[in-house]
Amino acid sequence: MKEATVAGEMVAQRVRTVEISGIRKMFEAAPPNAINLGLGEPDFEPPSEVIEAICAAVRDGMNHYGPSAGLPELRERIAERYRPRDPKTGRENVLVTGSGSEGLMAIAMALYNPGDEVLVPNPGFVLYAPHARLMGATPVPYSLHARARYLPDLAELERLVSRRTRVLVVNSPSNPTGGVFPARVVDRLVDFAERHDLTIVSDEVYEEIVYDRSFASFWGRTNRAVIVNSFSKTLAMTGWRIGYLVAPRELALDLNKMHYHIMACPPTAAQVGALAGLERSGPTVRSMTREFRARRDLVVRLLGRIPGVELVPPAGAFYAFPRLRWGQSSSEISMALLRRGVITTPGDAFGSLGAGHLRISFAASRANLEQALGTLARYAEEVGVG
Ligand SMILES: Cc1ncc(COP(=O)(O)O)c(C=O)c1O
Repeated sequence: MKEATVAGEMVAQRVRTVEISGIRKMFEAAPPNAINLGLGEPDFEPPSEVIEAICAAVRDGMNHYGPSAGLPELRERIAERYRPRDPKTGRENVLVTGSGSEGLMAIAMALYNPGDEVLVPNPGFVLYAPHARLMGATPVPYSLHARARYLPDLAELERLVSRRTRVLVVNSPSNPTGGVFPARVVDRLVDFAERHDLTIVSDEVYEEIVYDRSFASFWGRTNRAVIVNSFSKTLAMTGWRIGYLVAPRELALDLNKMHYHIMACPPTAAQVGALAGLERSGPTVRSMTREFRARRDLVVRLLGRIPGVELVPPAGAFYAFPRLRWGQSSSEISMALLRRGVITTPGDAFGSLGAGHLRISFAASRANLEQALGTLARYAEEVGVG
């Protein structure tokens, strides 16, 4: 029997419910020296304090298993950061995970039953819907429209909620839209979730990267929220796979059970690095955000000059999500740019409402952004827009 046929018989049904992101395939098709605006990670190195702490930890023998829920010092330090939002927050509320992605998986395992419905943003981050499907639950997309500055429509949520709905997934600042919820929107979503007995899963991994308005967390506004966070973006340490969850205490215990079965414990040396980052890297994080702001302004200005481009200026994260009204699909435009040496992500990779959009990451130097958006402008002329 052919190997592929045997493999087909071996795997469980759930494997068929998800795909590996198509975005990776695009990278493989890119010419050498292409400018990469497809990246979902900062182009900076981690702050020097983080690097030094990790090196010292590795040299000092922190190369072994640690507590499943994370190092107590790190959990305490994270709890301290959340206490201004809820003074009762303690380390029992905090679970250190091997990245935000792992935290999201532990949540899916702990919260979703087969047949449940999970409200997920459309467009939204690529893991939310597949995680629901992997657990036998049904993702129910709610719309984020440019005309509403990518804020959820409460009336639509009321229409979508059913007896089977268990969870509302929210993400502010958003990947891919760059939308940031004002506090009044957070309050309305809390009210909605409480009225329908839903748990809120709030993905706040971009909380430090905001431009025009301050960030409003779901923590401290309700006892129905679980917060997903990560050191990947704020400390530019994506490769170290370190994040955390903040949850009501009982739920934190159950989340820890799932997390233990996924990975036993988070990486030890990376936790030492994250702790050093929390304690000492504030100025570096602020300077990264300042640079992202300058790039955001540049991207908004350059896109504003190209005909047929509609853009809501991103208020947070490091993505612009323009709609290109050029009579071509996202993939056609993205492939054309790829052939011209610029990697972007087609908007429909994030859900049906991303159709016609491109996600442009500004985790790239200003010089590269100018060159890449110059290529986009020339392509617009070629296809005869304007
Ligand atoms: C919105 C959002 N949540 C979670 C993650 C997961 O990040 P990590 O697994 O690196 O912590 C990402 C990464 O791109 C993201 O954009």
